[in-house]
Amino acid sequence: MDSIGIGLAGFGTVGSGVYKNLEANRALLAQRLGAEFEIRRIAVRGLAKPRSVPAPAGLFTTDLGELLTDPEIRVVVELIGGIDAALPFVRDAIRAGKIVITGNKALLAEHGAELFQLARERRTPIFYEAAVAGGIPIIKTVREAFIANRFESIHGILNGTSNYILTRMTDAGLDFADALAEAQSLGYAEADPTLDVNGWDAAHKAIILASLAYGFWVRSEDVYVAGIDRLTRDDVKFAAQLGYVVKLLSTIKADASSAIEVRVCPTLIPKSHVLASVHGVFNAVWLRGDVVGEALFYGRGAGQDPTASSVIADLAETVVALKSPRRCYGFTSHDLYGKLKPSEDAVSQFYLRLLVDDTPGVLAQIAGILGDAGIGISSVIQPESHEPGPLPLVLMIHDATFGRMRAAAAEIAALGCVKAEPTLLPVENFT
Ligand code: HSE
Repeated sequence: MDSIGIGLAGFGTVGSGVYKNLEANRALLAQRLGAEFEIRRIAVRGLAKPRSVPAPAGLFTTDLGELLTDPEIRVVVELIGGIDAALPFVRDAIRAGKIVITGNKALLAEHGAELFQLARERRTPIFYEAAVAGGIPIIKTVREAFIANRFESIHGILNGTSNYILTRMTDAGLDFADALAEAQSLGYAEADPTLDVNGWDAAHKAIILASLAYGFWVRSEDVYVAGIDRLTRDDVKFAAQLGYVVKLLSTIKADASSAIEVRVCPTLIPKSHVLASVHGVFNAVWLRGDVVGEALFYGRGAGQDPTASSVIADLAETVVALKSPRRCYGFTSHDLYGKLKPSEDAVSQFYLRLLVDDTPGVLAQIAGILGDAGIGISSVIQPESHEPGPLPLVLMIHDATFGRMRAAAAEIAALGCVKAEPTLLPVENFT
């Protein structure tokens, strides 16, 4: 039986999960694959740190370079995270002819074009199932199972922490801050949850999915990204009153001219849509292909074991790749003329929440600005107030471009009767 030497870079939650599950299912994997994995080296930042998963002390090193100089190591698994150390390591690994497996979404979203180009030149694969949606095998699905399709749209709930927070704001009426504190105390959110709540963790995953599906690298600076950190309990409540739930939705959509829209932001979706039933820390991807039609994928987007499941699936791919090398792996550029639609030109319905004075003429001024911009209002909610002072005003808006809608919202924000920064969210009816 073949033995495949592995160098593991990083022994945190996911790295130790890979080690633990390779050990636990060693015999099963060997039977299924006709090959054995041998972890030969584990690179960590410090040797003294206590480990939740035991591994022989002799495997550990603080020198990432040792993973590249051992000729018996044919596969390196990068689970360091971040870009500073991971980027030079992955570059060097490809140059050294190692197969690379990575779960690093930020690395691929920011440097995928360069790394896949290098991998193509060196004819060595990069596998990255764990980088998007944790345990859901969406990369292999888009790359292989749906190879017959042009993708009309891919919508995802790709950040479990945000989804947990939004679920608690919806179901228990919590404020954002209290829901975040709860997510942290349960260990769902990182101690520094910035990338989770500002939308960028999900955006990195959306960039990878969009690039894979459409065959050209989407640049992060061209993607509209907003997080859930400015949402209030009121937004969630008004959305519910209107028949919607708020989700941090990743939207990837092609129009008739193959211009691709990629955005990640809090979005109102109908309560009846299947993605509205994705609660707590779960992730989901709902896509439409021209051949397959609609398809839904649901599962755990984070956590030690689900993410390790995806890394080990990539290890299984290496067995095939080593036996019969292919021309191209991981990322195949195909739509060389693919182009990203500028976020200002994307069209959507909108939810606009304002805080306004309760005086005559306020609604007329706001409606006037929207009317002059050619933007239609589909409904209005203004709860009656028995207290003095400003009160919320919610407008649902017919289709408009983001550019036109943002400009109108800025004009509305400058009115004397508008007392706080407006909240503007797209509404996705999946039509
Ligand atoms: N922190 C992410 C989440 C998982 O909450 O879904 C890793 O990308």
